[in-house]
Amino acid sequence: MIAVAVANIKGGSGKTTLATHLAAWLAHNGVTVALADLDRQRSAFAWTERRPRDLPGVRGVDLSRDWAPVAGVDAVVYDIPAAMKRKDLEEVVNQVDALILPVLPSAFDEDGTRRFLDLVSEFKPIRKRRLPIFTVANRVRGRTVAARRLETFLTELEFPPSATLRDAAAYAAMAGTGRTLFDEADPRSKDLLRDWVPLLRTIKPLLLG
Ligand SMILES: Nc1ncnc2c1ncn2[C@@H]1O[C@H](COP(=O)(O)OP(=O)(O)O)[C@@H](O)[C@H]1O
Ligand SMILES: [Mg+2]
Repeated sequence: MIAVAVANIKGGSGKTTLATHLAAWLAHNGVTVALADLDRQRSAFAWTERRPRDLPGVRGVDLSRDWAPVAGVDAVVYDIPAAMKRKDLEEVVNQVDALILPVLPSAFDEDGTRRFLDLVSEFKPIRKRRLPIFTVANRVRGRTVAARRLETFLTELEFPPSATLRDAAAYAAMAGTGRTLFDEADPRSKDLLRDWVPLLRTIKPLLLG
């Protein structure tokens, strides 16, 4: 079984958006996948309940009360809450094959990301550099100063973004219907999907072999 966690200290950075998309992408690739929601808000779990039955299935697992490793599937995507006990976070980190960190173009998100990386860098799989960390610049608007600043910030941290996702209203709409860009066939969605290609190319050997 393979597992990936989407995490960051900051709320609203796109963790659930990335987690739902990665789970749907794995499902479209024929993988039996669970989306495990560790957040009290249970937004990822609610998304699995809204997901239309005729789309490739994503099993929702509600871990918002008690954290436990998920079994019985080929892949798990853990949606990690902004505030998680250090001990629990360490346990999740010990379970996964990759960490994915969405970061918004804002100074607050930079601070949060720095703090998060400081925290997890003490965990053994990361200290020993066994666990890959991929950052994703999220909600980026064109060639703005903020966009360039975020790219520089992540590159200086030695985690240059594996993808840069545009700010697009489609993401909020899909959150409400249990869908993702991977489920859509219209030209706009196809265009937005191009943002995901570098990340998927990077994680594919790790997650799909
Ligand atoms: N690239 C994006 N463009 C536009 N809206 C986005 C994007 N990524 C996330 N969002 C929206 O931002 C809000 C917060 O995202 P969410 O994934 O719930 O963050 P988190 O799980 O980190 O709190 C949601 O309403 C979501 O639809
Ligand atoms: Mg969330």
